[in-house]
Parts: sequence; C-alpha cells; structure tokens
Amino acid sequence: MSDHRSLLQENDPELFAALCGEEQRQREGIELIPSENYTYPEVLALLGSVFTNKYSEGYPGKRYYGGQEYTDEIENLARQRACEVFRAQHANVQPLSGSAMNQASYLGVLKPGDRILAMDLSHGGHLTHGAPVSHMGRLFDFARYKTLPRSGAIDYDHVRDMALAHKPRLLICGYSSYPGDLDYARFKEIAVEVGALTMADISHFGGLVAANVMANPLDAGFDIVTTTTHKSLRGPRGGLILCRDELARDIDSSVFPGLQGGPHMNQVAAVAVTLKHAASEGFARYAGQVLENASAFADALLDQGVSLVTGGTKNHLLVMDTIQSFGIDGRTAQDVLDTVAITTNKQVIPDDPLPPFKGSGVRLGTPAATTRGMDTNHMRQIALWTLQALRNRDDAAQLTTIAAEVKAFCREFPVPGLA
Ligand SMILES: Cc1ncc(COP(=O)(O)O)c(C=O)c1O
Repeated sequence: MSDHRSLLQENDPELFAALCGEEQRQREGIELIPSENYTYPEVLALLGSVFTNKYSEGYPGKRYYGGQEYTDEIENLARQRACEVFRAQHANVQPLSGSAMNQASYLGVLKPGDRILAMDLSHGGHLTHGAPVSHMGRLFDFARYKTLPRSGAIDYDHVRDMALAHKPRLLICGYSSYPGDLDYARFKEIAVEVGALTMADISHFGGLVAANVMANPLDAGFDIVTTTTHKSLRGPRGGLILCRDELARDIDSSVFPGLQGGPHMNQVAAVAVTLKHAASEGFARYAGQVLENASAFADALLDQGVSLVTGGTKNHLLVMDTIQSFGIDGRTAQDVLDTVAITTNKQVIPDDPLPPFKGSGVRLGTPAATTRGMDTNHMRQIALWTLQALRNRDDAAQLTTIAAEVKAFCREFPVPGLA
C-alpha cells in the first residue's frame, strides 16, 4: 500500500473506510451522470501534490506572495494550453468551480441589476443561469427563455422575441440538461440585434468542443465562453473563462480580487495536464466515441418505446421522461437504478409539474462510461439493464440478478487511477 494510504488508514480509519467504499462504488457501478467522469491518474497525483501548500494570489508575474517560480510556470502553461485548445485570445484558469466562473463572468462585464437572458432551469439551463433560488438570480435581472412545448427543442424565434422584449445586456446559451445542439451564429445574430454581449456556458461539453467534435462558440464570435474542467474534459473540479482580449482585464480582476482569494494551485496544475491531454489524438477519439455512445444509447431506449426529451440526443446526454415511460417520478427511477449499481440523476423536464427533488425524468450521459472503454454495444446492453430494472422495479430477485450482472460487467473496465 502506498505511504499516504497507510498513513490515512493508521491515522483516520473512518475516513480510510469511506475512501475504500467510494473506490469500490466507482469500480463496481456504471456511472451515467452526464456531468461526471473519471479523471486522469496525473490529475489525482497533482491534486494531492505540494502545490496545494502554496498561496499565489494574483497572476503570473504579479503575485502578492514570494516563491512563485513554479506556480507561475504552471499557470502560464494552463493559460497557454487553454488558449490553444479552445482557439481563445485569453484564458483565466483560476475559478474554483463552475459556479464561481459564471459569477465572475457576469460581475466582470455587468453591474448588479443588469438584465441577462438565459435558458430556464427546467428547460435545461443551470442554477447560475438565473434560477430564482441562486444568488445570481437575485443579483441580476434575469429573463428566461424556454424550449418548445412538444419537442423540447430551442425555439430561436422565441429567444429573439424575448431578447427584443427584454433588451438584455448579456445573452447566455449553454445547458446542464438539454440534449440538443446550439446554433451559435443565430444566438450571436440575436445578441447583435439588441446590443447584448454573448456568453456560452459549455461546462457539460467543454471536452467535446476542445476535441472539435462539437462546434466552438468562439468561432462564431462569442465574447465569453465558460467551461467546467471536470465533466467531459476529464480534469480536476474547476472552471475556465475564455474571452476576447478586450475583456481580459475585466474578467481577470473579477475573478481576483473580485470574487476569490488565492487560487488552488494544485488544481491549476491539474488543469494544465488535462489540457495537454485534451489536445491529443487519443482525446479526439474519446470525444467522438462519447457522442456515438450517447446516440446508440438513445436509439436503444427509443426502440423500446422510452420517451426522451427532444426525441433523442445530439450531444453526450439524454433526458428520459420517467413518468411517461414507466409511470414513476425521476427520484424513484434514480433509486431503482441505484439498487442495480447504475448511477443516474433525477431531473426536472420542461415545465415540470413535480418539484426538483422528485422531477419527472432522469438524466443519463456517456462521458464516464466512455472513459472506461465502453462502446456502442456496451451502451445497448446498459440500456437493456436500465429498462429491465425500471420495468421490474418491484421484483427484488430480478433486481439482484441485474445488480450482479452489472458488477461482473464493470470488472472488465478498470477505472483510471484505481488499481
Ligand atoms: C452548465 C453548467 N454551468 C455551471 C455549472 C456549475 O459547476 P460547479 O458545480 O462546478 O459549480 C454546472 C454544473 O453542473 C453546469 O452544468
């Protein structure tokens, strides 16, 4: 056993037991939460490295503490790689998480009270896109566009009507649970018409944009692009803000000293190595496979009469309407799937009558399964287990059999970084 593990075992057995339990859970289960992934062993090593000891308030060359020769080097590498991978003029790699990255972006280019137009939460947007329960929802004056009632797709005429009616200073696209693609040129055109800045939050599919298997909003002239680093990008938890040079100073000072103090330099180092991977051919193949897997998964479910929001997927995620498909709410479906070691998350669907703690659907995605080497045939098998479990949810013996099959299957696919 490595030194740090035996130390932990000796000094804090409770914590060690929880760590081992989580490792086993990750090893033995199929991870379908679309915002999760298995990171690189180098990322795990850097997160647990001595970079965590260092305070580095400020930016490379302009810090408030001494001893920055190596932290400057890693932050410069991370910034440079982010700009290369995303074809960005400027990158800020310090946001501690996705929420902080969005908050810093708004506060960097707007004043509190300014109007923002973004996608409604139950139609696929994120909390930070102005949900009334989030601080951002209270700090800014949000208007929210919705998707089309039957298809669940974005209606660009409606977005334009909302923009003309509300005259936002910032127009946001991007999502947490929308299974479609985005027409950036159309968003940009609408923003230009009303004089708004444009921001795309590509947190979920940042890895797919980095690998050029999905369109890049910067190519369509977007002003700001934000992405988390821990979802399809496969990095540590964190956020990146990419923007045009003219906005660089405002964005940087909004992150520090506006919103945050010392950056987590262990995380910045891990972001740098993640971005090196993201530029590789292997990562491009991975990203393409994520999309193929999602589409095979969706087709297998549709073939069995399952109802999916937007009728399928054009990205890495699908949203299954569990009320329509199985007569159960999303929370119940998630719990049933937990018993067979298939991890998903309950999800509200457009204009959901149920509260977020129940939801009428479940969100499923392929980034994590693809990282373990699962392909389209495996996704069809996973779809079958998913359906069997949900249809036979009251049959304990069936659920036990499926759980055993899932665990045996998972043994064939090692988790990166886990022996
Ligand atoms: C689109 C989008 N933006 C921002 C975030 C926030 O990221 P974090 O959870 O790291 O704060 C998420 C997280 O799920 C997200 O899906």
